[in-house]
Amino acid sequence: MCAIELEPVIRTARLRLRKPRRKDAARIAALANDIDVARMTTRMPHPYGLDHAETYLDSLAGRDPSREALFVVDHEDEGLIGMLGFHPNELGRAELGYWLGRPYWGQGYATEAASAALVWASKDWRRRMVVAGHFADNPASGEVLCKAGFLYTGEVRRLPSAARGEPVPARMMVWLA
Ligand SMILES: CC(C)(COP(=O)(O)OP(=O)(O)OC[C@H]1O[C@@H](n2cnc3c(N)ncnc32)[C@H](O)[C@@H]1OP(=O)(O)O)[C@@H](O)C(=O)NCCC(=O)NCCS
Repeated sequence: MCAIELEPVIRTARLRLRKPRRKDAARIAALANDIDVARMTTRMPHPYGLDHAETYLDSLAGRDPSREALFVVDHEDEGLIGMLGFHPNELGRAELGYWLGRPYWGQGYATEAASAALVWASKDWRRRMVVAGHFADNPASGEVLCKAGFLYTGEVRRLPSAARGEPVPARMMVWLA
């Protein structure tokens, strides 16, 4: 039986993925309060205030690290630039999700973070399969997932979007270790 590392840190050339802390709340709220970030995620409401960030960070305390792994993405110069997590889906499978603040888009950071997180998930977290989905109107996220090694399953699901207030078609993908 392998012990689960409670505070894993994942390092890449430019980034460090680490456990979220309550003092991250203000920075998370500042970057997440952007409709073009929130509308591409299932859970993030808009507007997104400090209270949302604090409630979310407080809610992480009771989560089971064998089922769920949440990271903030720190940039070597900029500090926190976004978040990435593996959440259990309705079948208990790890589902990858992520977002970056708008100033940090288009520089390869999401691909760098997701690729390293998948290596960690297979080698340290012992997952053989990770699933993900991106809204059909979010081709940039599809590119990130393809570059990280995900394949399209062909399934399109209507998933909720808290920020849009309605279900949105999502293209489902899978990654195998
Ligand atoms: C999606 C998101 C994470 C991408 O982050 P990023 O750091 O810009 O991603 P990367 O730079 O690693 O890669 C993006 C790729 O998408 C491509 N891309 C960007 N816009 C695109 C578009 N409209 N159509 C097709 N490809 C596009 C880029 O060219 C890049 O590919 P390349 O490196 O081969 O040129 C970021 O935009 C974000 O946080 N968006 C809001 C939240 C979100 O969408 N989360 C994902 C939910 S599934």
